[in-house]
Amino acid sequence: MLILEHLRVNQQLTPQYVGQHPCFSWNLRSDRNGCYQAAYRICIWENTQLVWDSGERASASSIRIPYEGPALRPLRQYRWQLWCRDCFGDTAHAQSSFRTHRMDLPWHAHWVQPRQEATPEEYHALGEPQAVGSAPRDYREFRPTQLIRLPFSVQSSVSSAWVHISAHGLYRLEVNGKRIGEDELTPDCTPYDKLIFYQTYDIREALRPGENVIGVELADGWWSGRLGLGSSSCQYGNKTALFLECELTDPQNQTMYFGAENARSIAGCASYADLFVGECYDASRFPVGWSEAGFADDTWTPVEILNEPLNTLCPQQGSTVRVMQTFRPVALLKTPAGETVLDLGQNIAGFLEIRLSAAAGHRIIMEHSEVLGEDGNFLQNIMGFNKDQRDVYITRDGPQIWRPRFTYHGFRYVRITGWPGVPQLDQFRACVLSTALEEAGTFACSNPMLNQLHHNIRWSQIANAISIPTDCPQREKAGWLGDIMAFAPTMLYLSEASEFLRRWLGYVRMEQLANGLIPSIAPYWKSYRKIFAGLGSETSCGWGDAILLVPWSIYQSTGDRSILEENYDAMERWMSYVQREAETGQPAGFDTFDSARKARQKYLWNTGFHYGDWLMPSIMMRGGMPQETAAATKELVASAYYAFATKTMAQIAAALGKEQAASNYLEQFVKIREAFQAEFIRPDGSLVREFQGAYVLCLWFGLVPETQRQAMSKHLCRMISENDGCLDTGFLSIPFLLDVLTGCGRTDVALQLLFQERCPSWLYMVKNHATTIWESWDCIKPDGTVGMYSYNHYAYGCVGDWIYRKLGGLEALEPGYRRMRIAPLTECGLEWARTAHRTPYGTAAVEWHRYDSRWELDVVIPVGTVAEICLPDGTIQNKTSGVYHFEQNLPTSSLQELSDFQKA
Ligand code: BGC
Repeated sequence: MLILEHLRVNQQLTPQYVGQHPCFSWNLRSDRNGCYQAAYRICIWENTQLVWDSGERASASSIRIPYEGPALRPLRQYRWQLWCRDCFGDTAHAQSSFRTHRMDLPWHAHWVQPRQEATPEEYHALGEPQAVGSAPRDYREFRPTQLIRLPFSVQSSVSSAWVHISAHGLYRLEVNGKRIGEDELTPDCTPYDKLIFYQTYDIREALRPGENVIGVELADGWWSGRLGLGSSSCQYGNKTALFLECELTDPQNQTMYFGAENARSIAGCASYADLFVGECYDASRFPVGWSEAGFADDTWTPVEILNEPLNTLCPQQGSTVRVMQTFRPVALLKTPAGETVLDLGQNIAGFLEIRLSAAAGHRIIMEHSEVLGEDGNFLQNIMGFNKDQRDVYITRDGPQIWRPRFTYHGFRYVRITGWPGVPQLDQFRACVLSTALEEAGTFACSNPMLNQLHHNIRWSQIANAISIPTDCPQREKAGWLGDIMAFAPTMLYLSEASEFLRRWLGYVRMEQLANGLIPSIAPYWKSYRKIFAGLGSETSCGWGDAILLVPWSIYQSTGDRSILEENYDAMERWMSYVQREAETGQPAGFDTFDSARKARQKYLWNTGFHYGDWLMPSIMMRGGMPQETAAATKELVASAYYAFATKTMAQIAAALGKEQAASNYLEQFVKIREAFQAEFIRPDGSLVREFQGAYVLCLWFGLVPETQRQAMSKHLCRMISENDGCLDTGFLSIPFLLDVLTGCGRTDVALQLLFQERCPSWLYMVKNHATTIWESWDCIKPDGTVGMYSYNHYAYGCVGDWIYRKLGGLEALEPGYRRMRIAPLTECGLEWARTAHRTPYGTAAVEWHRYDSRWELDVVIPVGTVAEICLPDGTIQNKTSGVYHFEQNLPTSSLQELSDFQKA
C-alpha cells in the first residue's frame, strides 16, 4: 500500500499567504521495501474549476515542485490534488489546500494614529547602575494601550469579508466583541523600517446585517517598547499606529473597501503593556461593549491619518507566534520569606493565565523569574533596566479569566502578591508561546539524565523561536547571530525550522551595511547600535559568519540550494568585508615583526573587536567577565573562523556550480591556513595560546598540518584531562567539540564529556534541575550560588546535533538526506536509544538495543532514499527504503569497553 502524507505548499501544511510562485512537496510511505516514486501529477482547483494540471510526470522528485499554471487570483482558497505512482505500480492520492494573499492589489486605506502621548525616548547603556530592585518604580513613564473603534454597516449579506491589518506596535483585533484569529504578538518582529507584515483574516462569520464594529487594541511592542540588553525605547517610533483595510464583497460581486480613517480612539485599560516590562491591566476600567454595536463613543477622539508610505507592508511570511501549549503549574510554594510563589515545573517563554472570582479593585502582582535563590526565596535572575517581567492585574467584579496580551516572559516561577483570598493551583495555567513550527525530530534513550538534556534543548528552542531566533526570552529577546549559528543544526533536526530561518536570514540581509558588514543581531535594533559603538564594532567573527553558516546548515538539512542562492550575494559581500579587515588591520607590535610575519598578517583576522570563544567556562568560573573570554581568545578564534568561512564559501560556490569562485575561495583558504599555522601552531602541534576551544577549531576547520594532527588532538585531550575531565569551550567552539574528539578516534573522551556531571558540563545543568539550557555553564555554581544569568539560552544545546547523529545514529550522507548513514555508537554506555527525524522525504527512524551480548537494530528508511547501515561487527549494509531489523552478537571487545566505561 502506498500512502501520501505531509503535503506542503512552500514547506507549510496549509499556508494562508501564498503568492504567485507556490511550490509543492510531499512524502510517500509504503509497506514495501525498496520503494521510490515513479510518477506524480498535481492538479490545482479553485472551487470546481481546474486551474492547473501538471499532467502525469515520470519523476522521483517530491520536493519544491514549482507551480507552472496561470496567474493565481488574490485571496482565493485553492485545493490541490496530488496523485503518485511508485516503482511497483501502487498508486496513492491525497489533497490539501492553500490560500493566496492579496497579491499586489493597490491599497485603499491609510495608516492611522490614535491621539496619544509619545513614548519617551530613553537609552540605557551597558554598565549603568541597575534600576530594578534598587528603588521602587512608579511606571509613570509608560503609556497606555490604545483602543480603536470602527463602526461600519453591512447592507444584507456578504459573500466575502476580509480584514488586512498591521500596526506600528502590536495589535489585537476584535469584531463585534469577539477576538479574531489566534495569532499572538502580531505583526512579527521584522526590521520595521524596511518591512512590516500584515495579516489577513476572514471575518465573514462574525458579521451581521446592520451595524458592525471592528475594535483594535494597540501596544508598544517592538515598535516603541523597551527592547534588548540596554532596553532602550522607541526603536522605530514613539507612537503606535494602525493599518487596516476591510474588503467586503456582496453577492453581486461588488466590493467595498474602507480603512480606519473614520475610527475613534481612547486609552485602553492597560496602563502599560511592554514586551519586556510586562502588562498592567485594570479590568475594573474595561469599557464593556467597546467593540460592539451601540456603544457610545462620543467621548472618544477621532484618529489622525498618517502620511506614511505603504511600501513596507508585505503579506505575512511563514508561521506566526501562537500559544503552542497550556499546562497546569506543579506547585504553589510558600517560600522561607513567607511569599507565595507558583512553580510551573518547567522554564518557558510565555505568560500566565489566571482565573478567579473576586470583587473589583484587587491589585494582583505577578513577578516572573527562572530560578529561586540559594535560600529558596523568590529571586529575580535578570538584571538591568526594564527587565521587570512583572504583570499587574486589577480585578473587576465577578468570575474572570485574564492573561496578558502584549508581553511575554522567560520564567518558571511567579511570585504572586495581592491575590484576593488564598490562591489555588488550578486557578493558573502556563501558556507557552512560540512560532508555530512543526516538530520534526525526537530522541530517547536508556539514560534519564540524557533524556532530560534532550528535553532541555527542545524547550530552549521552543522558547527562543518567538518570531525570530533569539538568544534568550527574558533579558534581550534579540536575534543574535552567533547563538543560532551554533544551534541551527540542532534546531533543524528538532523542528521544521528551515522556512523560519530563511525568513530571518532575509532580515539579516536587509540589515547588512553598505560595506558588507553583517551586524551581530538582526533585526538590528537601535539600542544595540549604541552598545556596539561602545564596543568599537558592530560585528564579530562567528556572529557575522552566520550569513553563510546558517544557510549552509539549512542546505545540509534540506538539500535545497535556493537557500544558498538567496544569500550568496550577501555572503560574498560579507567575505569581502572580512578580507578587507584582515588585509588592512595591523595587530599590536606589527612594527617589531620580521618581514615574513609582517607579510602574513593580511591573511589573519586578528584585529578589532570580537566576542571570541564567548563565555569560556574557566574564565567565567573564576569570576571573570564575559569580555575577558573575548579578549583572551579573539585573535586566534577570529583568524580560524576567517579560514573556516572561506572554506565553507568554497563549498557553497561549488554547490551552486560557481567553479571559478569555488577555486578562488579555496586558494584563499590555503593562504589563510599557511599564515595561521605559521602564526599560531608550534612544531610540536601545540598552540601558542592554549585553549581547548582553539584546539577544537584548528582540528575541525582543517587548520593543522596532517603531520601534526595526532599531536594536536593529544594536546586537546591532555587539556581536557588536566581540566578534571571537563570541557572548557565557549559559544564558537562547542558546536564542534564532540565531533572533533570522535573524528580523532577519542570517542571515549567525547563520551566522558557528555556524561560528565561536574561543572562545566551538560549533565551538571541537569543535575541542578535545569529544565532548559543555561547561558553559562555555572549559572548555579557548585557551591550553590545562583547566578544572575539567563537560564534559557539554546547555544550550548548545539550538542543535540551530535547526540542525535552519534547516539541516535542517524546522519545525512548528502544534503537533504537522500542518502543517509545509520551508525549508532554501540559502545556509548547506553542500553538503548531511538531517534526519528522527518527528512524532506519522510520520517527516518532508528532504534537500537543491547541485551548483554546481543545487539538489535530497527530502522525505517523513507521512500526514495537509501541508507548505509553500519553494524557493530564492522560490516556495512546498503539498503533502499523500508523497514529493517538487524541482530548481531557483540564482539567481546566492545562488551569489555562498555563495562570499563561504566566502571569509569
Ligand atoms: C547574548 C548572547 C550573545 C552575546 C554576544 C549576549 O548578551 O545573550 O547570547 O550572542 O551577548 O556575545
